[in-house]
Amino acid sequence: MLLRILILSSTLVLLFSCAEKQTSTQADSEPKAHDYALVLHGGAGYMSPDKGAEEEQAALRSFIDSLLVNAGQSLKGGAPAIDVVCEVIRTMENHPHFNAGKGAVFAANEMNELDASIMQGSDLNAGAVAGVRTIKNPILAARAVMESSRHVMMAREGAEAFAEEQGLSMVDNSYFHTASKKERLKKAKQKEAESGAVRAMPIDEKYGTVGCVALDKKGNIVAGTSTGGLTNKKYHRIGDSPVIAAGTYADNRTCGVSCTGVGEFFIRYAVAHEVSSQLMHTERTLDQISHEIINTTLQDINADGGLIALDRFGNVSMPFNTPAMIRGYINPEEHKVAIFKE
Ligand code: GLY
Repeated sequence: MLLRILILSSTLVLLFSCAEKQTSTQADSEPKAHDYALVLHGGAGYMSPDKGAEEEQAALRSFIDSLLVNAGQSLKGGAPAIDVVCEVIRTMENHPHFNAGKGAVFAANEMNELDASIMQGSDLNAGAVAGVRTIKNPILAARAVMESSRHVMMAREGAEAFAEEQGLSMVDNSYFHTASKKERLKKAKQKEAESGAVRAMPIDEKYGTVGCVALDKKGNIVAGTSTGGLTNKKYHRIGDSPVIAAGTYADNRTCGVSCTGVGEFFIRYAVAHEVSSQLMHTERTLDQISHEIINTTLQDINADGGLIALDRFGNVSMPFNTPAMIRGYINPEEHKVAIFKE
C-alpha cells in the first residue's frame, strides 16, 4: 500500500512539472501574434513637458495619431509594408517639425544635407541616399535606389541626378530652410565657440530623425529612416540613418529596426543589425535586446538615442535613453502615441 502511494505521488509530481515546463516553453515560443503592425518614431531628444510647449506637443501627438490610424487602415486592407512605410516617412518629411525633409537641421556650412534608407526583410534588399541637398523626399529616393538600381547607397550629386531621372520631386536647398532650425544652428555654433571642443558631441539636442517599421499581412517587414543629421555637422558628414545595419535593418526571419540619436555611436555598434542578430542567435525577446543596447551598452558610453523595432510576430519595442522620443505603434488590437516616459 505504502509503495502504491509513493508511486502515485511521484507520478503526479512528474506530471505537474511537465505541464508547467510545457506552459512556459509555449509562452516563450509563441509570442502574441498580430496580423499586421506598425511602429514609428519622430526622434529621440531633449524635449521636456514644460509649460508653453503643451500646444505644440498636443499637435504633434494628434499628427502621429492620425498617421498611425491611416497606416493601420492601409495595412488592414492588405497594403504592402514597403508602400506604408514610405508613405508614413514621406508625410513626416513634409512636416516642418521633424529633422527630416522639410524640417531638416542645418550643417555648419548653412546647408541642409539629408540622409535616408529603406530595407525590406523578404530578400534583404536595401536602398539609401546620403548627403543630398535637393531631393524633396529622400525616403522615395532611397526606395528608388533599392528598386531601380543595382546599388545600395548613392551620395550627393550622383544620388540627386538619379532621383531626378527617376522623376522624383526636386527642390532648391532653400526649401529646407526653417527659422527654428536656423536658430538651433546659431546656438550650436555659440556653444562650440564657448567650449572650444573639436570633438564635442551634441548635447541637449532634439535629434528629430524619423523612422518607421511595418509588418504586413504577408509577413513582410520593412524598415526606413530619414534625417537631416546633426545640427552644425561638418559638411558632408554622414550619420547612421543611411547606413544599412547601423540606422536601419529588416529581416523577415527576425525583426525590423530604425534608430535615432548620435549616429556615430550607432555606426560603431552596428545597432540595427545587432538587434536582429541577437534575436536570431539568442533566446531573448526583442524588448530585452533593444532595451539592453539602448539603456546599458549605449547609455554607459553617454551615447544619446533610441530605436523602434518590430519582430516577426508584431511585438514592438521602443527604448530610448534621452528624456523624450516621439513614438507610436498600431496593431489590430490597440494603438498608442507617446513622447515622454509615459
Ligand atoms: N541619427 C541621425 C544622425 O546621426 O545623423
